[in-house]
Amino acid sequence: MNYSLSHNDSKSTSQEFLNDVVSGLSGPRKKLKCKYFYDERGSALFDQICDLDEYYLTRTEQWIMEHYIDEMAQQIGSGVALVEFGSGSSVKTRTLIEALDTLAAYIPVDISEDHLLKTAESLRVRYPNVEILPLVADFTVEFQLPRPSHPTSRVAVYFPGSTIGNFPPSEASRMLSLIARLQGVNGSLLIGIDLQKDPSIIEAAYDDAENVTAEFNLNLLHRINKELGGDFEVSQFRHHVKYDPENGRVEMYLTSLCDQTVNIQGRTFLFAAGEGVLTEYSHKYTIDGFTTMAGAAGFGLRKFWTDPDRQFAVLHLVNDQD
Ligand code: AVI
Repeated sequence: MNYSLSHNDSKSTSQEFLNDVVSGLSGPRKKLKCKYFYDERGSALFDQICDLDEYYLTRTEQWIMEHYIDEMAQQIGSGVALVEFGSGSSVKTRTLIEALDTLAAYIPVDISEDHLLKTAESLRVRYPNVEILPLVADFTVEFQLPRPSHPTSRVAVYFPGSTIGNFPPSEASRMLSLIARLQGVNGSLLIGIDLQKDPSIIEAAYDDAENVTAEFNLNLLHRINKELGGDFEVSQFRHHVKYDPENGRVEMYLTSLCDQTVNIQGRTFLFAAGEGVLTEYSHKYTIDGFTTMAGAAGFGLRKFWTDPDRQFAVLHLVNDQD
C-alpha cells in the first residue's frame, strides 16, 4: 500500500494571486478569477450554497447518482483507477467507490493539501482494500498521475459538480483534451453538467434570497484586502447576476456603487459608479452541445442520465482516439 501524497508544483502562490488580480483589474473590462473564491470562508460559503433551496445543482446531481449508480458502475467496469477532479471531502464519491467492482486505485486530485490529507486518511480506514493515492495538483494544467501498484483496466475520471461550467468553452475544451491525454485510449469520463433551462430558475440559483451567494462573491474582495493588503470598501460593491441565453451562461459581477479608487500594494484602480467586475461564468449546456465539444477532444458519448425535470445531467464518455 502506498501512503505517499503526490505533489504538482503549480499550486497558486500569493505572487500569482497578486499578478492575476493586478492584470484582471487593469484591463478595460475588469475581471477576477473565480478560482480565488475558495479560501476558508469562501469554501464554507460554497458548502452553504450547495444546501440552498434555490441552488438545485447539488441535490439534483446527487439524486441522479443515487438513482443510476449501478448503471454507471456497469459502464465504467471493473479494476479501474478512479481519478476524481476537485475531490474536496469526497463524501459524494463514496456512492461511486462502493458501487465499482474491484476498484484498483482511487486518486483524488485537489489543490487543497489539508483537505486531501484528511480525506485520504478517512478513505483508507473505510476502504482498506483500495489503494488511495492522493495528488495535490491544479487540474487545469497538465499533471502526471501516480502509478497504482496493481495493474488497472482503464483510467476513469470522475468530474462532478458542473465545475467544468466555470471555464469558458475554449478552456473547457482544453481541459477535456488534457483529461483524454491523461487517460489514454479507452479512458472513461463520468462528468456532471448543468443543463440550459428557464433563466429565472438559473438566476435564482445564483442570487438567493438569503444572500449567501452575494457573500460568497463579495468575499473575494475581503480576501484581496486580507491577503494582498488591498483597501476595498466592500460595502461599496454589490453582487449582480445575469443569465446570457445566447452563450448559455450565468455571469456574476461585483458592481461598484459609486466612483471610487482602490489601492493594492502601491497600485491604484479606478471604479466608476455602476462598473462591474466579472467574477464568474457558469456555463449551462445542452447534451448535444457538450457531446460535440467532448467529441473534439476524442470522447464519444456512451450514456447519460438526467433527473425528471432535466435540470442536470451526468454523462459517460469514452476516449475513442487511437
Ligand atoms: C463550483 N461551481 C460549479 C459553482 C457553479 O454553480 O458554477 C460555483 C458557484 N458560484 C456561485 N454559486 C455557485
